[in-house]
Amino acid sequence: MNFQRVFGTLPKTQASAPGRVNLLGEHTDYNEGFVLPTAIPQRTTVQIGPSSDDRHHFYSAEYDELINFSDDDTIPQKFVTYICGCLRLIEKEGYKIPPINLYITSNVPIGAGLSSSAALEIATLRGIRALLEIPLDDLRLAQIGQQVEIRYAGLNCGIMDQMASSLADTNTMLLIDTRSLKYRPVPFPAGTEILVIDSGESHNLAASGYNKRRAECEESARILGVKALRDIADPKAVAILPEPLRRRSRHVVTENNRVLKAVKSSAKRFGELMNASHASQRDDYEVSTPAVDALAAILQSIPGVFGARLTGGGFGGACVALVETGKANVIASEAIDRYQRAGYSGRILVPEVKLNS
Ligand code: GLA
Repeated sequence: MNFQRVFGTLPKTQASAPGRVNLLGEHTDYNEGFVLPTAIPQRTTVQIGPSSDDRHHFYSAEYDELINFSDDDTIPQKFVTYICGCLRLIEKEGYKIPPINLYITSNVPIGAGLSSSAALEIATLRGIRALLEIPLDDLRLAQIGQQVEIRYAGLNCGIMDQMASSLADTNTMLLIDTRSLKYRPVPFPAGTEILVIDSGESHNLAASGYNKRRAECEESARILGVKALRDIADPKAVAILPEPLRRRSRHVVTENNRVLKAVKSSAKRFGELMNASHASQRDDYEVSTPAVDALAAILQSIPGVFGARLTGGGFGGACVALVETGKANVIASEAIDRYQRAGYSGRILVPEVKLNS
C-alpha cells in the first residue's frame, strides 16, 4: 500500500518524528522535575494531501485501516485518536484545517514504552504545520501533543515524550527541566552506547496505575506544602508522609537527584544510577513487573553493561541499558537468550534490526 493507492492522488507534504527512550528521570516530568531521554532510530511518518470530499481520511499502514472523520464527530478511541486530537487542537489555536487525506507508516514499537503515540502526534503536527505553513515552533508542538494525550487519550502525562520526539536526536541525550521547559543536549558518557530490549509485556498506560501515581504525587506535594515534588531535594523530607505516598515521593526525589548527578558522571557512575533507578521504580514507585525485573537483572549481570533499567511509563514495556561502545549487539543477543531461557519472550529494539526487504 502507499498514499497513491489508498487515495488516488499524490501527497502534498510529508513529515516524520522519532520514538524516544528515557535514560534516567522516570515519573519526574509531571512532578516538574528533570528527565534525560534520547531519540531512537525508529520513526513515524505521515504523508498529507487534500481530501476530495468534505471529510478527513486517515489510513494506517500498520493497522491496514482507513477511517474518516469530520470536525463535528466525536473522536474515536483508536489510532486516530491522536490524529483527530492534533487536528482539533490546531484548530483551537485558530488555524482552519481543510479536509485532508493522511497516510501513516511507523516502525516505532507500540506498547513498549518508547512513545509511539508521541511520535504519531509530533509527526502529524509537523505535517500540518508544513501543509498550512503555520508558525508554531517545536516546543509548542510538544505542548500541543501533550494536551492531545491528556484531553483525548485519557493519559494525564507529563511533557517528556513529546519534547523528546520533537526536539531530541539519536546522538545525544536531552536534559529537560520540565518546570521551565529549558532543555539542552548532553553527550552520552564517553565509551558508551545504548541498547533497548522489549520485555514482551505490552503496557497500556491509560488503563494502568499511571494516573493514580500522578495523583499520589500531587497529594504528597500538597501535604508537604510545595508546588511540586521537584521542590524537595532531600529524600528525608518525605518521612512525614503516610505510605504509599512516602515511597512514591522518595522515588521522585531520589530520581531527580540521579538525573542531576548523571549528567556530570562517568559511564560507571551513570550505570550505577540507572541500576538504582530501576530498584526505585520496582520497590518505591511499583511500576515494574516480574518480567521487566528479570530482564533488568539479566542485563545488569552481563559484563560490558554499565547499568540497566525499566524505561518509560512502566507496567510492562522495555529496558534500556548503557553498555561499552561496540558491544550492544552481542550483549543484547546474550540477554535475549538468557531471558528466553528464564521463560520469557523479548525482542531487541535498539540497535535497530534492519530487515532486508
Ligand atoms: C509516560 C508519560 C511521560 C512520563 C513517563 C514516565 O511515558 O507519557 O510523560 O511521565 O511515562 O517517566
